[in-house]
Amino acid sequence: MSVAKKQYKRVTTKSLVDMKANGQKISMLTAYDYTMAKIVDSAGIDVILVGDSASNVMAGHETTLPITLDQMIYHASSVVRGIERSLVVVDLPFGSYQSDPKEALRSAIRIMKESGGHSVKLEGGKEIKDSIKRILNAGIPVMGHLGLTPQSIYKFGTYTVRAKEEEEAEKLLQDALMLERIGCFALVLEKVPAALAQKVAESISIPVIGIGAGGGVDGQVLVTHDMLGMTHEFNPRFLRRYLDMYEGMTNAFKQYNADVKSKDFPNESEQY
Ligand code: KIV
Repeated sequence: MSVAKKQYKRVTTKSLVDMKANGQKISMLTAYDYTMAKIVDSAGIDVILVGDSASNVMAGHETTLPITLDQMIYHASSVVRGIERSLVVVDLPFGSYQSDPKEALRSAIRIMKESGGHSVKLEGGKEIKDSIKRILNAGIPVMGHLGLTPQSIYKFGTYTVRAKEEEEAEKLLQDALMLERIGCFALVLEKVPAALAQKVAESISIPVIGIGAGGGVDGQVLVTHDMLGMTHEFNPRFLRRYLDMYEGMTNAFKQYNADVKSKDFPNESEQY
């Protein structure tokens, strides 16, 4: 088997760094429950992110801010029960790490102990450096997240592309270098210009996983419900839909409704 096609029995933080070194792209998708995680894992996706996007996708909130640590632990433990191979990364939710490093560590420990997840993800750069260091010092792997960081949506005011101006781009690059230096194993870059994302990926040895960050990075992540076409109201340029599940599910529900009402379901062979 060639090195570039190496299949990992279990994906670890180290395998991801090796994959980057070998030029092997990394696939990452979100999951928030057992059944979805089992399908994503068995399809060979390298990393499953229990994203705080659960706040939008699962709970129907407008932003990722309301989801709690307890709710993230519930989603993450369901995901962990469904996987055999993928690395599970769990988002630390808004309010669980920003106030001080001790609280950040307590939150990360709860995620690791109570959900069985393999690592945590935090949004931000130098502002949260001490919290990230504290978590890393406890032996918990950390994935960074820069660019559009949805937990700061009320500061940004909009979900548009970040770091288009030189000053913000330079800060982002410095933050990425810092995250690598202190020991993060990977980094998500969300909605930034492709050229900047490629520059960041070429400047650091840890993998950069992009969402709306172009093809010059080391891997890609999408929200599973979006790529399956379950959320048809969300149409950013970066989203490729692999199914139209909204349509497929709606048709199935309509057919079931009609079958129940017409007494077609259940038939002879569907009863005892
Ligand atoms: O919460 C999430 O799903 C994320 C991805 C968009 C990277 O952070």
